[in-house]
Amino acid sequence: MPDVIAEARRLLATAPRVLIFTGAGVSAESGIPTFRGPGGLWKTFRAEDLATPQAFARDPRLVWEWYGWRRGIVAGCRPNAAHVAIARWMMLRDGVTLVTQNVDDLHERGAVEAARALVAEGLVVAGGERAALERAAPVRLHGALFVSRCSHCGAERNDREPVDASSRETLPRCSCGGLMRPGVVWFGESLPEDAMRRAFAAAGEAEACLVVGTAGAVHPAAAVVHATAEHGGAVMVVDPGPTAYDEIAEAKIVGKAGEVLPEALL
Ligand code: OAD
Repeated sequence: MPDVIAEARRLLATAPRVLIFTGAGVSAESGIPTFRGPGGLWKTFRAEDLATPQAFARDPRLVWEWYGWRRGIVAGCRPNAAHVAIARWMMLRDGVTLVTQNVDDLHERGAVEAARALVAEGLVVAGGERAALERAAPVRLHGALFVSRCSHCGAERNDREPVDASSRETLPRCSCGGLMRPGVVWFGESLPEDAMRRAFAAAGEAEACLVVGTAGAVHPAAAVVHATAEHGGAVMVVDPGPTAYDEIAEAKIVGKAGEVLPEALL
């Protein structure tokens, strides 16, 4: 095992409280495009046409077409070894908070796989499978692709339906008659308050922060990692490319999440 992974493993095992902070790269090996790398979504699409409140007001059909396409991609993908390793680790030890910028549901589905494996191995998870899934649930900073929210009354619903974006008339509607919108955070919008409070609370007390697959380019989410570093927590980065955190990282593991995490999280 490379020394840097052994060092990260040691830091993670000895820290009473750990923050795991993930971005698009943790889902890359599942087949979901990242945003800024080669083949990244923002290389092909303009965020201002698709991921802003103004874009939705101007052309909700176009915005829903894009999010419907992304829902289809995610629905056809499976969690990878990184999602499963993170969830398993969280189920087997205390003091871990997972904060994600991702809107896919692969952390949750990885947790289902991890819980089933623990049950099959006869490893008792206190409180059973449901409690195990709760332990591994992520704090979501950027919302969720499979949630829709009414643009009129604000009601939210889980929504895994394919979207018929063939015309404005076929777009999803709320029972109040308002147009539903994707339950994600767009550029120019505030992040959900409760998620921010929980993320910064965890960052403020964590002795170690494991950053996985994020360029660290989007604020305020990116500041969560700095909050750990500012109070002396050790930052570790798993990413095949450069990130905004490389200079503050005590350990930079250059590699793919699905290959590194099953070794680092033991
Ligand atoms: P980026 O596309 O900016 O960064 C993805 C990171 O993942 C890069 O550093 C890649 O090197 C790395 N990466 C690629 N493959 C990997 C692998 N197999 N294992 C580990 N890392 C890998 O995506 P984010 O940082 O997540 O916001 O982007 C942050 C936010 O910008 C997103 O949440 C989204 C976007 O605009 C909103 O939609 C509000």
